[in-house]
Parts: sequence; C-alpha cells; structure tokens
Amino acid sequence: MRFLLHVATTVFLCIHMQVWGSPEEDRAVFLSTFSVNIPGVPVSQYIHGSMMLSEDALSQYNSIMDFPPFQGVIDSGQKIWVTPFKNGRTFADCFENRGINIAGKFPFYNEELKRVITFEMALNSCLEQNGERLMAYTDPETMGALSAYARSLSDGMLMDIEVVSKQATGKYELGKSLYFRRIGQYNLACASCHLTNGGRYFRDELLSPAIGQAVHFPVFRGGERLYTLQMRYQRCMEAVGAVPFESGSEALNNLEYFHSYLSNGLPLQSAVYRR
Ligand code: HEC
Repeated sequence: MRFLLHVATTVFLCIHMQVWGSPEEDRAVFLSTFSVNIPGVPVSQYIHGSMMLSEDALSQYNSIMDFPPFQGVIDSGQKIWVTPFKNGRTFADCFENRGINIAGKFPFYNEELKRVITFEMALNSCLEQNGERLMAYTDPETMGALSAYARSLSDGMLMDIEVVSKQATGKYELGKSLYFRRIGQYNLACASCHLTNGGRYFRDELLSPAIGQAVHFPVFRGGERLYTLQMRYQRCMEAVGAVPFESGSEALNNLEYFHSYLSNGLPLQSAVYRR
C-alpha cells in the first residue's frame, strides 16, 4: 500500500489523455506512448512486462519456466479437460478445432447474445450445454486450472481480437471508458499506470505497458498463486482502493475485450511465472 500511496502522490499528478478513436487508432496511441517511455525496445518484448528490461529477472523467469513449480496445476487442468462429462462428451467437443489455436479469438462479441464472451465463459457454457455444474470464475482449482491448460492449447497463436460491428464497438468503448476511469481512494485509472507510465520505472519496478499483458494468462504469482486475467484486474482495482467488479461481470468482460485488443499480433502463452 505504501508503494501505491507514493505512486499516487508523486507520479500521477499529471492528467492522462483519453483516447478517442477506432480500435486501431487507440492501439497506435498506446504504441507511440510506449515508444517514448521505453525507446528502442521492440514490441515483441512487451510480453515480458515488468521483466523486459532486466536480464536478471528474465533469466530467473527462464529457469523457473524450464521446470514450472505450477506444472501440477496445469496437469490437473488437463485432467478436467479430457475427463468425459456424464453424457460422454468432453470440452474439446464444444470448441472449434477441438480447442486448439482458438484462445486468441477471445473475448469476442456475440451478435445473438449481444454480449462479450470470454474464453472462461465459453468453458462454463460448455459445462452448461452438457448439463454439468458451472465453475466459479475465481476458483483456481477448477476454472483456473482448466483455463491454464485449455489456453495452453493456443500457445504461439497470435492474439486476433475483432471489433467489427457497431454493437461490438459499443462494448469495446465501454471497456475503454472503464480503462480510463479514475477509481478508488487513490483516484487512479488503469491508464494512469499502464498507459501514461507503462514502461516507466517506479522505484525498482517497471510498470508493464498495457500492450502484451493479455497474452500470457493465467499467471502464477510467486510461482504458485494462480490469477486469471480478470482476477489480476481485480487485484489492481483493490490496490487503488476501489471495490473490484466481479469476475465474469459485464464490466470486466468489456474491459477484457478492450484490453485484449491492444495485444493483437502478439503470441499467446498460457501459464507463466510472475513475481
Ligand atoms: C497504481 C498503479 C496501477 C494501477 C492504477 C493499475 N495497475 Fe495494474 N499493475 C500495477 C503493478 C505495480 C503491477 C505489477 C507490475 C506490472 O506487471 O506492471 C500491475 C500488473 C497488472 C497486470 C499484470 C501484468 C503481467 O504481465 O503480469 C495487469 C493485466 C494489470 N495490471 C491490469 C490493470 C488494469 C486493467 C487496471 C485498471 C483496473 C490496472 N492494472 C490498474 C499497477 C497498477
């Protein structure tokens, strides 16, 4: 908390700019901000977030990823993925291409349901269609583990979020406005840290740029605590003294839609180590 208090009082007195444009124009604004904050660093490195400028952090990351301490969780997710439902079908039957190389299309806007569908919602909707019990979005042992394994089937796929129709753009804009809204007792927006100051050091920590964040979830913080992307959003909301929206809520789904679009073109990698 002391960290945040200092961030709030020292770095963010400047007012950030709200971007108003098409999704591609928005992405361009983020990219040009980061090219100033972290000159000479290729966008492909942004996927490493706060580790990108530290050789030590990256080599620690690589050695942890050689033998991930959280492998058991991914294995348990695999078990959930392959174990047949009572009707004999499995998760793979619910997805295009049996779930391989598809996660980079999520979230997407579903024109019939008129809402944004996240990957985790699609997993739950598969359970529902097959008469099985739904999983809680914040349960690391069920949804978390399943998501970690199911997303790993798309490792290497490039993020490919589409915002096409007017209705889809509406949801994207709602997500964007939440990203720029100042919240909590520290009165900070996501954009205050991960746009305006993304790629800048605060003390010994680099604030990760928004681009590249969405491609590598869930993460295992400290090598053991699983966070889905929306659980990570919730931690940042709490950190600024705001009451977080629920995982799976429309507000966080729209936020994830906007936020994931920013990472278009970057390769997915599920289940990674984070500090
Ligand atoms: C006070 C500054 C601050 C604010 C405001 C803030 N965050 Fe963060 N966020 C951090 C810090 C510090 C970390 C951990 C270091 C890093 O990865 O940037 C982090 C990490 C993250 C990560 C994980 C990055 C990774 O690679 O593991 C995501 C995703 C994220 N924030 C999204 C958000 C969203 C969405 C919001 C708005 C709801 C938000 N943050 C608001 C400071 C902030």
